[in-house]
Amino acid sequence: MSTILVTGGAGFIGSNFVLDWIALENDSVVNLDKLTYAGNLQNLASLKGNSRHTFVRGDIGDAELVAKLLTEHRPRAIVNFAAESHVDRSIHGPAEFIQTNIVGAFTLLEATRAYWNGLDDAAKKAFRFLHVSTDEVYGSLAPTDPAFTETKQYEPNSPYSASKAASDHLVRAYHHTYGLPVLTTNCSNNYGPYHFPEKLIPLVIHNALAGKPLPIYGDGQQVRDWLYVKDHASAIRRVLQAGGVGETYNVGGWNEKPNLDVVHTLCAILDELSPRADGKSYKEQITYVTDRPGHDRRYAIDATKINRELGWKPAETFETGIRKTVQWYLDNQEWVTNVTSGAYKEWVQTQYRA
Ligand code: NAD
Ligand code: TYD
Repeated sequence: MSTILVTGGAGFIGSNFVLDWIALENDSVVNLDKLTYAGNLQNLASLKGNSRHTFVRGDIGDAELVAKLLTEHRPRAIVNFAAESHVDRSIHGPAEFIQTNIVGAFTLLEATRAYWNGLDDAAKKAFRFLHVSTDEVYGSLAPTDPAFTETKQYEPNSPYSASKAASDHLVRAYHHTYGLPVLTTNCSNNYGPYHFPEKLIPLVIHNALAGKPLPIYGDGQQVRDWLYVKDHASAIRRVLQAGGVGETYNVGGWNEKPNLDVVHTLCAILDELSPRADGKSYKEQITYVTDRPGHDRRYAIDATKINRELGWKPAETFETGIRKTVQWYLDNQEWVTNVTSGAYKEWVQTQYRA
């Protein structure tokens, strides 16, 4: 049976990707994840005992470990999700972002290059390195600018997006210089199950139910382009299957929304599905707070290329996806409690003696 190596597969998007992969595809998955604060093995609890999923705790920046895994498991593809991913954290402490997103990606590429060079011709030709990136590398749009296409100049504005941009450039260079068969996807903001409640959508759902303020940065008119996480996973599967070597694909759902609209929508769904005891709307909890430094005003993805060339389109609209997401959080309060209380970390420490 063939195998793929997934990095960062205990995080938000990676775990959704791994769960869908095991359900829908035939390959086994080796899942390499450092289990930072954002990695959570509870996301993968349903795979316990499944022989097609092997979890390895480790760092993509550990050259020896990555080389060992590649030799042992001989994957036909690598999907690289591993990253520090939160813009606000990158503002407070950029060092980890440079380490994992740039140095870690470089180390992973070097190990991959050595492994790939040792493959026979057929395996070499079939091999793929898929790098998962973000629309934030393109910078910020004015209200009437066209959405980002794959040829848009990179203009990253935060330490997070700058570190992702650097890794995208390294991936590109490894194709052009060494012939490594790479693919890059640049996706818009994701939302859905297992989203760590430091990001806008899960934070608002969690704070609303906990009776806490719903913090809106600045005027709340910043625009993000939202995609349901399982649609991102399906796009990655499609690019892995049929994407042109060396190509980049923008992935998005044509769902541009100002932050305040997103928060209003969440409040309206919560008012319906889990009304406040006092009968008032969750909107009452909205609080305007100091804006994020260097806050990008607008992101928008033009997903024409992946649709035209690979026939991919999202299955969910924002309306269907956001409702499913709120329902998931209501049904999985224990997951949220474990994450916010830090209980999942204690479990990891017991399990791994970290
Ligand atoms: P996340 O923070 O939820 O998960 C990241 C995972 O990577 C965690 O499990 C963490 O433990 C792991 N990790 C961190 N450093 C590591 C290292 N050095 N070695 C091995 N594992 C490590 O992030 P996410 O939201 O799931 O994002 C996954 C990828 O998708 C990232 O590369 C991100 O840039 C990209 N992306 C995210 C979004 C989004 O909206 N969240 C949108 C587009 C692209
Ligand atoms: P976030 O989920 O952190 O994603 P990103 O910064 O990668 O787009 O934030 C989404 C948007 O919501 C962004 O414009 C910042 C804003 N935001 C708030 O207004 N309040 C919050 O508490 C958070 C976390 C984000």
